[in-house]
Amino acid sequence: MGNNDKEPLLDHDADGIREYDNSLPRWWLYGFYFTIIMSVIYIFYYHVYSGPDWNFLWYGEKSQEAEYDAEVAAAKALMPASPKGPAVKMALLTDQESLSRGKTIFNSTNNLCFTCHRSDLGGQIGPNLTDQFWMHGCSLQEIVKNITSGFPEKGMLPFGSGNKLSDRELLEVASYVLSNRGTNPPNPKPREEEREIECNGDS
Ligand code: HEC
Repeated sequence: MGNNDKEPLLDHDADGIREYDNSLPRWWLYGFYFTIIMSVIYIFYYHVYSGPDWNFLWYGEKSQEAEYDAEVAAAKALMPASPKGPAVKMALLTDQESLSRGKTIFNSTNNLCFTCHRSDLGGQIGPNLTDQFWMHGCSLQEIVKNITSGFPEKGMLPFGSGNKLSDRELLEVASYVLSNRGTNPPNPKPREEEREIECNGDS
């Protein structure tokens, strides 16, 4: 900013550098005022006139919470209703029919469990699933979770092959796996070091 000689020279001095008391550039000043005005509008718009008690104002419900709820509701409206119906109860299945469905899933070319764990679950690429030693846990919940996520870095895709199973099917195949506890198939895969979790009896 040039000086038109009307501005007084300020009396401070930094290594010989002096400065005039120039007024701020207009564009800068107006920008600054604009931010002040915006901050007031912002506070009123988002924080003051946003609660449910202020519905009568034209601002509507603009709080973060309200916007979040609205987006979640909109997303839910887009999702198809679950074909599986209500969530399945996480309880071990022991009836013959469910276990034989689990066995079918285990040996199906859709989910490929048998290709890595063998049809008798004695283990091959994947670990033996019939003895008391586990890597990732032996509770029904843990097994369901492990089948769901798989261990992709070890070669097991989610649901074995990446082909999704319904919650009910997961429960069937996990229950089937657990029903093979103690079956002692011939020539099982030797116990891996990582199988350190020991489970005895029912899980
Ligand atoms: C491509 C090979 C492969 C397929 C297919 C596969 N698995 Fe696995 N599975 C593995 C490997 C390898 C591991 C060991 C993961 C590790 O080392 O962490 C494993 C681990 C597991 C475990 C955890 C064992 C433990 O000791 O905690 C369960 C349970 C299991 N598999 C069940 C299944 C079921 C059920 C299916 C079919 C839906 C399936 N697997 C399909 C290779 C496979």
